[in-house]
Amino acid sequence: MTTRRTIGIVMNGVTGRMGYRQHLLRSILAIREQGGLPLEDGTLLWPEPILVGRSEARLRALAERHGLERWTTSLDDALADPITEVYFDAQVTPAREKALRTAIAAGKHIYTEKPTAESLEGALDLARSAREAGVRNGVVQDKLFLPGLLKLKRLVDSGFFGRILSVRGEFGYWVFEGDWQSAQRPSWNYRAEDGGGMILDMFPHWRYVLDEIVAPVRSVYAHSSTHIPERRDEQGAAYPATADDAAYGIFELEGGVVAQINSSWAVRVDRDELVEFQVDGTEGSAVAGLRNCRYQHRVGTPKPVWNPDLAATEDFRSQWHQVPDNEVFDNGFKVQWELFLRHVVTGSDYHWDLLEGAKGVQLAELGMRSAREGRRLDVPALEL
Ligand SMILES: NC(=O)c1ccc[n+]([C@@H]2O[C@H](COP(=O)([O-])OP(=O)(O)OC[C@H]3O[C@@H](n4cnc5c(N)ncnc54)[C@H](O)[C@@H]3O)[C@@H](O)[C@H]2O)c1
Repeated sequence: MTTRRTIGIVMNGVTGRMGYRQHLLRSILAIREQGGLPLEDGTLLWPEPILVGRSEARLRALAERHGLERWTTSLDDALADPITEVYFDAQVTPAREKALRTAIAAGKHIYTEKPTAESLEGALDLARSAREAGVRNGVVQDKLFLPGLLKLKRLVDSGFFGRILSVRGEFGYWVFEGDWQSAQRPSWNYRAEDGGGMILDMFPHWRYVLDEIVAPVRSVYAHSSTHIPERRDEQGAAYPATADDAAYGIFELEGGVVAQINSSWAVRVDRDELVEFQVDGTEGSAVAGLRNCRYQHRVGTPKPVWNPDLAATEDFRSQWHQVPDNEVFDNGFKVQWELFLRHVVTGSDYHWDLLEGAKGVQLAELGMRSAREGRRLDVPALEL
């Protein structure tokens, strides 16, 4: 008979966008719907969420909607539940560091959204504390598990590109100001004092995407802007946007690769997907998005000749080929949860830990400094 092993997971911030949709619904509840997480020895791991938040009414409604029994507004009570082994955090960024510290002190394993802290010092200290406490730890690096980026990684691993020369990334979409149409992102994202800002939000992602798929990041130059100076919040009240809503970054990678990534919430989409990365190499190029990745090999590269007097004679877009799926892709957040939970229970390999998370915070901190000082900054190696 299969044995079922329950693992209690305190989930803080599940009333939020990420906490609810990606982590509770698409990951933990999806694992339960598939009957649990099978381990190598045949055991089925059964995640039991313990919901934590600030509003009793919202937690109760959420628990009832999904048939869950455990929820509380007290983090201490949740951590003290005898079934609790893991603490997960998807709260607003400024609330994270303190809560993670409390959970580490209580001896719980840690899984958390990015950025892990608002400063590099704080992020490194968390990584150190977790190591000293001997608790396993992981940080969400979901973009690595997107089908489009997995296909891009497949191309890199195959040697398709030859020598990689450059990367150009475009991320973003128009986030409504909140006056005549409501904003589709929370207002704290646009207030620096509440942990908002494009660089703090997105540079942690660009760090692991570049480091792991292309080459380690060695320097950063960033220009940031607040293009929309005033927005309206969830209640319709006007507030000054104190955080950057766009960041234009240039990153030098090991081996001389140059990466440019534009991130903006004040841009209208003329792309196939909300994020796209073009990688150009001596042997071929590729454009990867969330789901798809198209490529062009050197033998299929056209030879355009610049002539502004003539209309374009070629349909450049049609000269690319799709990388096939060749596998079934599950939700990226769920895949990473499964890897982390196996790591907690069996000690299997897992390297996206709080130190890796600190690298993301480091790039964000250096990016913000670069933007303030108007100069390029080296990205030194991090050690605990
Ligand atoms: N991995 C990703 O792709 C990704 C995407 C978006 C956001 N995030 C991260 O997830 C975290 C949450 O972002 P979100 O977009 O879900 O935000 P959100 O505003 O939708 O949710 C925030 C959650 O934090 C809780 N909270 C705790 N203290 C709070 C306080 N003082 N004020 C307001 N809310 C408080 C809220 O109740 C809510 O549950 C952020 O740290 C963000 O960086 C990650």
